Amino acid sequence: MIQFPKGFLWGAATSAHQVEGNNQKNDWWEWEKKVGLKDASGNACRHYEFYKDDFDLARQLNHNAHRLSIEWSRIEPEEGNFSTAEIAHYIDVIDALKQRNIEPIVTLHHFTNPLWFAKLGGWQNKKAPEYFLRFTNKIVGVLSDKVRFWVTINEPMVYVYHSYVLGQWPPQCKYLFKSQEVVDNLLLAHIKSYRAIHSIYKKVHLPAPCVSIAKNMQPFMPCIPNLKNKIGTYLRNKFFNLAFLKKLIRSRTLDFIGINYYTRGLIEVKRWGLENLFLDVCSKNHSSLRKNSLGWDIYPQGLYLILMQLKKYNLPVFILENGICTADDNLRWEFICEHLKNLNLAMQKGVKVLGYTYWSLLDNFEWAQGFTPRFGLIEVNYNNYQRTIRESARKYSLICEKGAL
Ligand code: BGC
Repeated sequence: MIQFPKGFLWGAATSAHQVEGNNQKNDWWEWEKKVGLKDASGNACRHYEFYKDDFDLARQLNHNAHRLSIEWSRIEPEEGNFSTAEIAHYIDVIDALKQRNIEPIVTLHHFTNPLWFAKLGGWQNKKAPEYFLRFTNKIVGVLSDKVRFWVTINEPMVYVYHSYVLGQWPPQCKYLFKSQEVVDNLLLAHIKSYRAIHSIYKKVHLPAPCVSIAKNMQPFMPCIPNLKNKIGTYLRNKFFNLAFLKKLIRSRTLDFIGINYYTRGLIEVKRWGLENLFLDVCSKNHSSLRKNSLGWDIYPQGLYLILMQLKKYNLPVFILENGICTADDNLRWEFICEHLKNLNLAMQKGVKVLGYTYWSLLDNFEWAQGFTPRFGLIEVNYNNYQRTIRESARKYSLICEKGAL
């Protein structure tokens, strides 16, 4: 039996735009329609209406933690105008978790932006960190007595890559080096928000909160160990994995390290060139590893490797996302077990881990990939919005109950 420490947090994660439905005031909503995505988010899972039922299911599955995000465009639908009704909604959502003895872990930015903010230049605007800070102050001010764990920004580097480097997500910019200004604004937004959150708690004499980001980490490895690939691997590790984290650690604005882990990155640099060194990946599917339904390698040892790489920073870690999209629920169960074994191994080697939230509680809107990939512990029928608990969820619930595998 593999034992996890007492007090370990177990649960699952979601994000507002992916599950709530009808987030009509954000940049994704507009963009989905503009580019004619195969699936637009539409009603998503109607979690905005059914959150209590969904949390009942999480409770039934022995989850004692739940990660969710607050949709900024609901709270501040127009610049500087805050919606009292939407603030009340999220207070209810957090209360609903607490009534079920589920610890909320609250994300403030999960890829979507209010339309007004996007129209002002989004994260390229020098004032972006200030806008984000104003939102942070507003929402943290009303939730501080209910929430201990805050995640300011979800996967800043993934966001920058998709939205400002590869040009696949709104606002579909394609610049490699100029994207650094977006990275800098996100860094500053976190630093300012971190300090604001701490000062709010201090002012009202609450115990200090735990604030972090959710950092997507991938062990990068050369597809074939030639010089080009090795340099590409080195650069990816330095800039994608570590640079953002290191700056926050240096500014002392991480209380723990939030990790999202899905897969490894195989690097195959096609030719000498800066863009190639920074962006090329293996496109020939060279590896013999099993894959999820989006073709990502399943590589549980990678979680161990990443955690050991972070050990030297001496901060507790929280696995804020780890999951698989698959039509094979046995594979999902195997995925969970293998990743938890690797997590536990790193813990035995001295990495302090606070908790694990599987991605995702529900099948949901997987961004540009629409509704086809199924990540959920709970299946969602998009015709009638019925929920069905998957077998893997029931098995995972025993781990949550016993704190052991
Ligand atoms: C994101 C989620 C996404 C998941 C699976 C993470 O990068 O935070 O929003 O659904 O990965 O792709």
